Amino acid sequence: MSRPGRPGRFRELLAKRLGWTFADNDARQLEDLLRDRAAQHGMHVEDYLTRLDARPWEAEVTELVERLSITETYFFRHGEQFAALREDALPERIAARSAQRTLRMLSVACSSGEEAYSLAIAARQARPDPDWLISVTGVDANPQVLRKAEKAWYSTWSLRETPDTVRRRWFRQADSGYWVVDEIRRLVRFQRTNVAAPDDDLWRPEQYDVVFCRNLLMYLTPDVVSALVERMTRALVPGGFLFLGHTDSLGSNPAGLELRHSHHSFYYRRHGGPTPLQRIAPAPAASSPPVPSYAVRPEPVVPEDVYPRALDLLRQERFTDALELLTASGPGPLEPRDRLLHGVLLAHTGRLDEAVALARKLSDDNGLNPDAHQLLGLCLEDGSAVAEAIGQYRLAAYLDPGFALPRMRLGQLARRQGDDRTAAGELERALDLLAQEDDRRITLFGGGFGRIALTVLCRSELDACAVRP
Ligand SMILES: C[S@@+](CC[C@H](N)C(=O)[O-])C[C@H]1O[C@@H](n2cnc3c(N)ncnc32)[C@H](O)[C@@H]1O
Repeated sequence: MSRPGRPGRFRELLAKRLGWTFADNDARQLEDLLRDRAAQHGMHVEDYLTRLDARPWEAEVTELVERLSITETYFFRHGEQFAALREDALPERIAARSAQRTLRMLSVACSSGEEAYSLAIAARQARPDPDWLISVTGVDANPQVLRKAEKAWYSTWSLRETPDTVRRRWFRQADSGYWVVDEIRRLVRFQRTNVAAPDDDLWRPEQYDVVFCRNLLMYLTPDVVSALVERMTRALVPGGFLFLGHTDSLGSNPAGLELRHSHHSFYYRRHGGPTPLQRIAPAPAASSPPVPSYAVRPEPVVPEDVYPRALDLLRQERFTDALELLTASGPGPLEPRDRLLHGVLLAHTGRLDEAVALARKLSDDNGLNPDAHQLLGLCLEDGSAVAEAIGQYRLAAYLDPGFALPRMRLGQLARRQGDDRTAAGELERALDLLAQEDDRRITLFGGGFGRIALTVLCRSELDACAVRP
């Protein structure tokens, strides 16, 4: 058995070298990895940690990045942000740059490049004249994903949110997937960068018109987040735009930035620069977290309509709209199905404590409600209580043996914990059940994935298990 303190020291070193933060329930995974890496080098764990601490060890840090980073991404992810970019941010920047005829954009934590190419496509669509110089830089700490980005070949799965017109115009179908066309590839370059380390050139002040940094801040320590946000803000031209992930709010009044919202998404504009175009509504002087308001209010709602409409908004990942619709319709959602949907939406909008309270209430009211246990499991897992989440998933699966999604989560969690045998059994069962899974449950608990996507995900997790059931 290992002595206490080693995983803690490993965590501190990962924070020091990469800016990463981990939840307590990641301790087991980290401990396994630590033992494995020390053994690879023929070192005692203590010596390995001392070496990692003592001086730069790039090859080893690379190995750790490749083993630990989460690299999920796809083209035009969070389409509403790309709509805001296309219709608000880019027209404003193009007007401001009309003399220089240049647009510079940065994709921070670009993973395998889909986001960087999406930015280049959006810019080329907005400014087709070849005499405009468009450049996109994609940076990431993980060389494995950057190699994929350089290659610019993607499976159909990566283009799942890409409209057909865009697919036809900017991709070439071949080799059972898609190549990004050269016209776009030429605009994008990739660079290996660890955002926890300084890089004067990358962060030179006032150079980028648009910076995207999505789905990274949540993995970083608060110190690294604030240093990075400050660098990104400085590196934007006055009037330039910063887009963060849905869960990465900086509050309503971050230094040097003005909160904006349109297209049901929020983003930031660096102070200064030319007067913004009138079309962009200024954000309300609301306190954090930012809640988008809409130019067109939803029409008055007939109560029976509310549930299917809110479910549909959830399907479109318009969580705040759905929540607003559900809660605006009366004194409070009373039916268990409304309360369940309410809980799911609270969880999606980051109000985890409220979601947990609601899910607990639902399962207290009816302990035999498998959906309540599934919701509780999802919330607890997000809130780092994985052992309890597993108990809730088991209950959900027990109460409804036909319920695929708890099986799937149990399989994924078992894999994360290195228990491939349990994982394979659960994932196999989930695969069998997914074909029959209720559409409503897929919307509620599928995390934005449809049935086919979940099936592919399940199959690839199963393939990655070292054992077969
Ligand atoms: C979930 S992906 C985000 C992809 C894309 N931005 C998106 O939202 O679809 C997170 C990426 O952050 C990268 N990353 C993690 N820590 C990093 C660091 N310290 N410096 C640079 N990139 C890092 C990972 O390698 C991974 O590719």
